[in-house]
Amino acid sequence: MIDVAVVGLGKMGLSHLSMINAHPDVRVVGICDATGYMLDVLTKYTGLPTFKDLTRMLDEARPDALIVATPTHLHSGMVREALRRNIHVFCEKPFMIDPAESEELADLARRSGLVTQVGYHNRFVGTFAEVHRLLELGVLGTVTTALAEAYGPVVLKEAGTTWRSRRATGGGCLYDYAAHPLNLLTWYLGAPTGVSGSRLTSIFSANIDDAVATTLHYPGATAQLIANWSDESQRKMTTQITLWGTHGRIHADRQEIQVYLRDSAPVPEGYRPGWNVKYTTELMEAPWFYLRGEEYSNQLDAFVHRVMASASEGQNDFTSAAITDECLAMIIEDAARVDGPLRSASAAPPPTSLPTRARSAWRVLRGEAVR
Ligand SMILES: NC(=O)c1ccc[n+]([C@@H]2O[C@H](COP(=O)([O-])OP(=O)(O)OC[C@H]3O[C@@H](n4cnc5c(N)ncnc54)[C@H](O)[C@@H]3O)[C@@H](O)[C@H]2O)c1
Repeated sequence: MIDVAVVGLGKMGLSHLSMINAHPDVRVVGICDATGYMLDVLTKYTGLPTFKDLTRMLDEARPDALIVATPTHLHSGMVREALRRNIHVFCEKPFMIDPAESEELADLARRSGLVTQVGYHNRFVGTFAEVHRLLELGVLGTVTTALAEAYGPVVLKEAGTTWRSRRATGGGCLYDYAAHPLNLLTWYLGAPTGVSGSRLTSIFSANIDDAVATTLHYPGATAQLIANWSDESQRKMTTQITLWGTHGRIHADRQEIQVYLRDSAPVPEGYRPGWNVKYTTELMEAPWFYLRGEEYSNQLDAFVHRVMASASEGQNDFTSAAITDECLAMIIEDAARVDGPLRSASAAPPPTSLPTRARSAWRVLRGEAVR
């Protein structure tokens, strides 16, 4: 049995609290939020000890583990407070805004032997885990090309100002959506050597990106990452991965994995050359508590069991999430490099030496009417 506390009782925190509070090996010893009415309601209906201040909760409730589900820019200070007190931490994604801090805190946790995990729940989806297993078995041979995508209907009109509408606090499609398929790419292919052609496009938002496109480079392979959270055609977030290798192709989303194996492929048990389809229902066990998808329950279950076993290295530990943070920073830096010249080009007049057709094309690119 372990004692767990939760800080940040918004969308993710409430969902984590519902699941962890029903876990047979967990006692919830404290919950914390900055909003008084949220604490009043939870005190009334759960009877759990509530706190408005994290440090007070950590000192008085003395949990073995803390779940951090506050806006992203607050992760750093809160994770630090927990690690300082030798408390194991499950932190929502993305881990940190500043990748230097991600590495520092991952290192601190590793040296203290603490269990850490970041909420990249897709690694607990049966189909995405099966992709990883197949790649480890080498069934695709050398992977040459990958496509990682995420779409959903988050921002469909100009939105008000919250922490989600500023990149400095963790808002935007890159941090919120693209981080998920990016994290899968780093699981499957490792850390890229570089990124290029990055565009962070605002569609409805005033100050942040609603769509992301970039290319990640690997020795001998490239991966495209595309995300758009202004896609009304989707009911909820849809994440998908496609990988091409010398022995075949894999496509996976949350529901199914489609595998095409060439005759040259080493064929694992349960597969055959040609097309194979497996469904998430074949690949995932029912969790102890179902709230919003087995992966959300399973990731917390894995964390609890790692804390009980003092297993400091494991799925989605801080060290692995730091790689994703590093990639996010690379994409932001590259997008600024790509967008800078494009913006200044669109503000400049067309060069006078261009032939007439090229001058017309230039004007079209700038969105000007061409007679
Ligand atoms: N894994 C996923 O699929 C997923 C989905 C959504 C959000 N997230 C991540 O989860 C985190 C939280 O997102 P959310 O959607 O739950 O946000 P939210 O705005 O719904 O909730 C945040 C909560 O934190 C509380 N809070 C703010 N400052 C605080 C402080 N100083 N002390 C205590 N509580 C404080 C707020 O009152 C609020 O209740 C973010 O990092 C986000 O990126 C992950």
